[in-house]
Amino acid sequence: KLKDNCYACAPDYTGSVLYGNLNDLPEKVKCFIQDKAKQCQPEYIHICDGTEKERDLLLYLLQKDGTIKPLNKYENCWLARTDPDDVARVESKTFICTTNKTDTIPNTKDDVVSTLGNWMSPSDMDCLLESRFPGCMKGRTMFVIPFSMGPIGSKFSKIGIQLTDSAYVVVSMRIMSRIGTSVLESLGNDDFIKCLHSVGKPVTSVQKADRWPCNPKQTVIAHYPERHEICSFGSGYGGNSLLGKKCMALRIGSILARKERWFAEHMLIMGIENPAGVKKYFAAAFPSACGKTNLAMMEPSLPGYKVTCVGDDIAWMRFDENGQLRAINPEAGFFGVAPGTSKKTNPNAMKTIEKNTIFTNVASTDDGGFYWQGLDKTNQDNIQITSWMGIKNWQHGSGTDPAHPNSRFCAPANQCPNIDENWESSEGVSIEAIIFGGRRPEGLPLVFESFDWTHGVFLGASLKSETTAAAEYKGKLVVHDPFAMRPFFGYNFGHYLKHWLSFQANRKLNCPKIFHVNWFRKGPEGFLWPGFGENIRVLDWIFRRVQGEDCHVMSPVGYIPRPGSLNMAGLKQEVDMNALFELPVQFWRAEVDELEHYFNSQVGSDLPDKIKQELNQLKQRIYNM
Ligand code: GDP
Ligand code: PGA
Ligand code: MN
Ligand code: MN
Repeated sequence: KLKDNCYACAPDYTGSVLYGNLNDLPEKVKCFIQDKAKQCQPEYIHICDGTEKERDLLLYLLQKDGTIKPLNKYENCWLARTDPDDVARVESKTFICTTNKTDTIPNTKDDVVSTLGNWMSPSDMDCLLESRFPGCMKGRTMFVIPFSMGPIGSKFSKIGIQLTDSAYVVVSMRIMSRIGTSVLESLGNDDFIKCLHSVGKPVTSVQKADRWPCNPKQTVIAHYPERHEICSFGSGYGGNSLLGKKCMALRIGSILARKERWFAEHMLIMGIENPAGVKKYFAAAFPSACGKTNLAMMEPSLPGYKVTCVGDDIAWMRFDENGQLRAINPEAGFFGVAPGTSKKTNPNAMKTIEKNTIFTNVASTDDGGFYWQGLDKTNQDNIQITSWMGIKNWQHGSGTDPAHPNSRFCAPANQCPNIDENWESSEGVSIEAIIFGGRRPEGLPLVFESFDWTHGVFLGASLKSETTAAAEYKGKLVVHDPFAMRPFFGYNFGHYLKHWLSFQANRKLNCPKIFHVNWFRKGPEGFLWPGFGENIRVLDWIFRRVQGEDCHVMSPVGYIPRPGSLNMAGLKQEVDMNALFELPVQFWRAEVDELEHYFNSQVGSDLPDKIKQELNQLKQRIYNM
């Protein structure tokens, strides 16, 4: 069974190809389709060409089904409301399936439950999926989406073929990646990442099609790195269903990256031009819903600065022949958090989503607009709001959220007013600083710099943040999220650390400086730092450090700004700098002890010695405070 992963290309599959022609496809693609169609039994097959005509057809069908409705206040904007049980990534149901467990999960004591990924053997997963996929597309259309992560033809780029029974996924993938005929032409007869997705709800004669078909109880998202294959069942939510994004560009991507000596990271990429006209690019890793999209699109409050956006979620980076780190954004769109987005916080995002955008789980207004918590209140009195749950006449102060906290917009990147001129460069842009950050209500200063690359890797490894609505968690709990990659590691985190550390040894490489930021420290009255456009003040300090300016002083955790060296000119609100940079001894003693426990219990014998040394040095500095 599944010997060479192909049920032989002489199928008893009887469904008909509605759109496109199987015989026009590369042999390997055709084989993959036949194989999976035989298993999933769709009624029809649709081979996506990526044209606007096709998009309009699918939007029309989705509207007819009731899956989406138009937001008539804007041009070509749509609202989808999911099943309330299908609103976020499901980390507990996401697996990496390798023959050896230690390829996926760090080697720890037997009784430790890993928080660094879920492993299952490929044969056990095969068994499990045998109870999911056979017949799962009955009564539905199987769409074939050829997609490229990265500009078509760039040496950075990777091609996948996603089969899905969701038209919502097709119209979203068309925004988030490059899809269609040109991808197939570029692929030729090469191999590709095989991606299979089903909402897991066949249409039977007794049961009518749902508005948002899904199967939360049976949901599973499986990655087979050894077969270059991804299978996702039961969820239509973006992070689980747009397989080019988290599944391919991060989980499978990180595995390819290690093998080929590059990086696939959960990072935004931004350009910063200072008033003297000098421009640099930075990459920054923050966990989901911790400010990547906002930072990449920020409108700087300091005069003379310009910020441009290359990408807001994923960076593929590699050192070039001159030892310079270069990065591309493998995506073509933004899948951004809606709540909190406003003209005040993120005007560039507001302009990006005015047209050709698909909204999911936001509230709507009776004049055909969108609405969510944190949007500027306009003419509130006479406009009725319908909540994401469909509650009409939603009222402020009703105790419920108008939009789901993880509601999203899905918009083409080229509509973003501050999109960088090189955002589609096939060479990538030069990265001169790497920034880590998370939501840390306590103890972590606004910004600090690592002493060197190895210490910077330690900072990435030590990253923690409050949980958010981007995954299935309830409540706000500070948890470990190393490199903001915890949900996205495709392989053993200990091996990942060794991979990062291995670049320090090579003197020919120009390893960028590494920083840590925290916009989310709290005082008695909430956030201590105004954030958003004011974050430029921190980026300016980082910029000057990269240029070699002597504006830093030593602290136990790293270099921090010399007092007075952060540009605070024109800041309208009062900011308590002492509180933002204070290093409470009790907090930090508890922090290093907890880090030690975490590394020992979760990374175990796979923890590189260099990280142990960094931890011990930090411990010494803290206990000498
Ligand atoms: P991403 O998921 O990492 O891309 O995060 P987003 O940029 O979408 O932001 C997630 C949430 O954090 C939104 O509700 C934002 O309004 C909020 N946020 C982003 N940047 C800041 C900031 O600098 N300060 C504060 N207080 N909130 C922020
Ligand atoms: P985010 O992307 O990082 O912008 O939240 C989606 C996710 O990580 O689930
Ligand atoms: Mn993300
Ligand atoms: Mn984002």
